[in-house]
Amino acid sequence: MERLDKIISHAFSLSRKQAKQAIQSGAVKIDGIVVKASDAKAEPSQVTLDEKIADYKEHIYIMMNKPQGVISASEGGTQKTVVDLVPQALRRKGLFPAGRLDKDTVGFVLITDDGAFAHDILSPKKHVEKTYFVQTDKPIPAELPDRFRQGVVLYDGSVCMSAVLETDSACTCTVKIKEGKYHQIKRMFRVNGLSVVYLKRTAIGGLALDASLKEGECREIGAQELALIRDEQG
Ligand code: URA
Repeated sequence: MERLDKIISHAFSLSRKQAKQAIQSGAVKIDGIVVKASDAKAEPSQVTLDEKIADYKEHIYIMMNKPQGVISASEGGTQKTVVDLVPQALRRKGLFPAGRLDKDTVGFVLITDDGAFAHDILSPKKHVEKTYFVQTDKPIPAELPDRFRQGVVLYDGSVCMSAVLETDSACTCTVKIKEGKYHQIKRMFRVNGLSVVYLKRTAIGGLALDASLKEGECREIGAQELALIRDEQG
């Protein structure tokens, strides 16, 4: 059970003040009966505004195919952010990207208003794998998968967790990492003498980026898909 004004403001993207005004105007019903008290408690499925059912969800989870040139932040000053690209229908207060991709990296960014969920999937302790398609400037040496598995030591001396590298062609591969150090993939290659010329995140946990999403597009993630994020077998 939630407060009526909270349900209305979430479900219909209204400010709390606008929600209270709608309730006081008599446009809101619980089980078909007009209720004018903003602090009345109800289940979202019982509530309507102008006969429209409040399809209330406590949190929203959005899959975006991030394009190049956009920053992974909620506010970017003069720079365009991934949150700026979220269409009005999916907009809510408090949206932020759960994990950052570099400005020139493309692919799967998860945007949500659920801080606890974001913390969970980003914590290295939770072992949620992030999968990247990588293109390098030079052929990938045969011993690189072993080095990645053993844990790459970066130039600053920090040690990366064991990572999986599967070669696709001479200069392309798939890499899976379970942590998110700053510029991690680029630095893991750099210390091995290669530059990353193209980087795309293709999956988070067991949930792959929807191939039908063009760069800059996004869609809501359903409950079953959300569960796949924590399910490495997915
Ligand atoms: N590693 C990088 O170097 N950059 C990214 O954007 C993501 C992972």
